[in-house]
Amino acid sequence: MTITSRSIRDAFVSRFGGQPKLFCAPGRVNIIGGHTDYNGGFVLPTTTGLHTWVAIAPRADRTLRVFSRIFDSLEEIDLDRIEKCDDAQWYQYVKGVASILEGAGHTLRGADIVIDGDIPLGGGLSSSASLETALAFALLDCAAIEIERGELAQLCQRVETEFVGIRCGIMDQYVISRCAKDHAMMLDCRSLEFQLVPMPADARLLVVDTGVSHRLPTGEYNSRRNECEEAVARLAGKIPQLGALRDLGLDQLEENRNLLDDRLYRRCRHIVSEIQRVEDACSALRRGDARRLGELVTASHASLRDDYEISCSELDALVEIMNACPEVYGSRLVGGGFGGCAVCLVHAPHLGRVMDKVQTEYAAQLGRRPWAHAVTPSDPVGPAPAIEPFVAQ
Ligand code: GLA
Repeated sequence: MTITSRSIRDAFVSRFGGQPKLFCAPGRVNIIGGHTDYNGGFVLPTTTGLHTWVAIAPRADRTLRVFSRIFDSLEEIDLDRIEKCDDAQWYQYVKGVASILEGAGHTLRGADIVIDGDIPLGGGLSSSASLETALAFALLDCAAIEIERGELAQLCQRVETEFVGIRCGIMDQYVISRCAKDHAMMLDCRSLEFQLVPMPADARLLVVDTGVSHRLPTGEYNSRRNECEEAVARLAGKIPQLGALRDLGLDQLEENRNLLDDRLYRRCRHIVSEIQRVEDACSALRRGDARRLGELVTASHASLRDDYEISCSELDALVEIMNACPEVYGSRLVGGGFGGCAVCLVHAPHLGRVMDKVQTEYAAQLGRRPWAHAVTPSDPVGPAPAIEPFVAQ
């Protein structure tokens, strides 16, 4: 069912009464730049027309009463006693956001909250970063605290790294906090400088879910990050100015290959070549060269599959099915990997036909018709659209 400002407001009123304020945050689709963010590199993400919604009204005490429509579950959190729990429950993110904001000196108010959303969970479209930013924005607004959007993104990233335990990069929270409608964001994850690049009018992004929930296997994700750090430590003996894989050139990697085992060498080869692909992709996007952009996107998938080893058979099958459509410029897995969605860049007039063809072929090969979504890059986190006045028919 479509979520609207009216539906989330109504859900709040029937549960808690009163008049809430409404906020929403989009999900993200990374066009290219897989796992480059925590290596200080570039990424080229955009946002989706899918959102997390938050309805919020202040309370007189320091309690958060939070109802998730997605899980049909109510949780109470005492802002003066936020305890981490080990189970990966949805309210872990609520606790994490409240804890990190309070820890950063932002004293929150108690609130009644309803959460809803249409971003598939574990689909690689950043449902968790979207929840974090929507909630943080709403809680800060409720306490009349204004912070800069870049700081908001960094605080929400800390929810993952310090509370949930995933040592993720800054990409997801940053693009959700600062992107712009109909644009992609070329982000330097080291300096946090960014440029907004318009999406070409004649090409659209289509995401299709393998149905394999990735649940971002914390171990696998963190182990990739540890491998990158180990490679930097080994190479730094020979290349003293090396602070992160961002600083490494392909030629330097080849020259110093003997310092790495084959696995670390391939991890580095992915990151170094991917950072270059993001720069090339950004140039292609600016020229409106969808064909070149597509080639780079497909090369990114091959590198994530073979060198970074974060794909799975369902993702590889989906990417092959997408690339077999002549109207598709290129495709790759999105997000952390190990399942979730793949994205393809499609010649816009054929979007509907490609969507149907990919879903039908995936169903024929893997036995289930996958969920698919045509991406319309939307506004960043902020107040939800105003409720349309009711017009009697
Ligand atoms: C997840 C993380 C991001 C990024 C991607 C891979 O979405 O949250 O920081 O590392 O994986 O590009």
